[in-house]
Amino acid sequence: MKFDIIQKTPLYNNFSEIGKKIYLPDGIFFWAGRAKKEGEIVGTLGAAYGFEKDFIDGGDSDWLPCYLKEITDYSQFSIEEMIPYKSIGGLLQTREIWKDWIIKKSLYEEKDEVLLSRLKKFITTPIITGGVTNGIFQACVMFLDPSDSIIVPNKRWGNYDNIIKKFIGAKIRSFEFFKQKEMNIEGLKTAIKDIAKIQDKVVILLNFPNNPTGYVPEKEEASNLVEMLKEVQEFIKKPIIVLVDDAYEPYIYKENVLNKSLFYDLHQLDGNVIPIKLDGITKELLIYGGRIGFITIGLKPSWIENDEELQKLKEEIHNKLEGFIRATISNCNSYYQVLVHKLFQEKGMDQIIKSREPVNNLLKHRYENINSELLKINNPIISIDPNSGGFFVFVNLNPDKIKATEFADHLLNKYKVGIIPVEKLDENINGVRIAYCSIDLSKIPELVKRINLALNDF
Ligand SMILES: Cc1ncc(COP(=O)(O)O)c(C=O)c1O
Repeated sequence: MKFDIIQKTPLYNNFSEIGKKIYLPDGIFFWAGRAKKEGEIVGTLGAAYGFEKDFIDGGDSDWLPCYLKEITDYSQFSIEEMIPYKSIGGLLQTREIWKDWIIKKSLYEEKDEVLLSRLKKFITTPIITGGVTNGIFQACVMFLDPSDSIIVPNKRWGNYDNIIKKFIGAKIRSFEFFKQKEMNIEGLKTAIKDIAKIQDKVVILLNFPNNPTGYVPEKEEASNLVEMLKEVQEFIKKPIIVLVDDAYEPYIYKENVLNKSLFYDLHQLDGNVIPIKLDGITKELLIYGGRIGFITIGLKPSWIENDEELQKLKEEIHNKLEGFIRATISNCNSYYQVLVHKLFQEKGMDQIIKSREPVNNLLKHRYENINSELLKINNPIISIDPNSGGFFVFVNLNPDKIKATEFADHLLNKYKVGIIPVEKLDENINGVRIAYCSIDLSKIPELVKRINLALNDF
């Protein structure tokens, strides 16, 4: 948007630097808006949709956002549950039960006693944020000054740039995410060493399953990544803070890939590779509008002398985070905090996982189908990024032949298919993100056929 009018008013000149810099990028919203009006097949929306009967027993044929059937038991709460403010850091019962959820998601078993007890003891009780976005925002503000750089892969969620560059005014040190269809661990290592030369800390932001690619490292790649972080931290002798954006954590569709957050392995390292877990109910419990996220910090045993100090450390961290919440959103939505607690407490975590299974299966089938259909396209202009989870697949286009925006426009105009183009040539990105989470399986072959036809027009 151009700010022609506002610039003529006294508002603009009196804006702070952030006030001048901030704006709502139109990329995704522009393409999603157009696709809604002009498209027959729409793959722009990053929320899981399906026909209700495909994910709810006894559901009908309405096309709806996927939800857990247990939610419908809670349309009425008592006044006491719904109306009062919750504590700044969130309802304690919800925070504690989310900590149990984090422990469950570790997949550690009773026999992994040492790992389990370290996890239980050395993580903070999650603080409740206004969705995962607000957790990312808080974590970034907490560790980045405007002069700082944070390392993030070139293929990343666009909102990181809003938070980091426009809001905080910090820099992104981007690195090429993939090298020969695997994560470019060497590229990340080089970035860490570069940043360590100019900063006393290294901050990294990683997201698996990734938006926009759906990438999840294979188990071996993940352990190489953890090993690299461990070794490079010992080499640079400066702390490495890893913000782990786990927005899509449970959506994994392949056997041999990392099937839980990277947070857990990083947390088990003794050195100062410090993981911060950012997760939430948005996608995990399919409650997009509930706006409840969590920020959890992985602590290291070497930081404290005894249990009393550990307790105090946790309280001090909670207080800091609560300071952020208080200064920004004051506290989070009461209704959904109570709902999360009730879902886990009354229905049980295993039941919630079971209820989510039809959605996982729905997405898995779409994932398999879209990948196998895309593979049939025999055109050197495109390449598909490795993907095995999440909501999206990313198709790279050769920038010498087609620019992503031009392609998306042509695809929508002529073939009535809406997808999101990402054209950031300075970061070596030119491709389209297809949100198969919101496209029914039956439409995927047609979607890919139309993409193929559009490619042949160039
Ligand atoms: C990678 C990633 N992180 C975080 C979020 C935001 O989640 P929330 O809606 O909970 O703020 C999204 C949403 O699209 C996302 O794609």
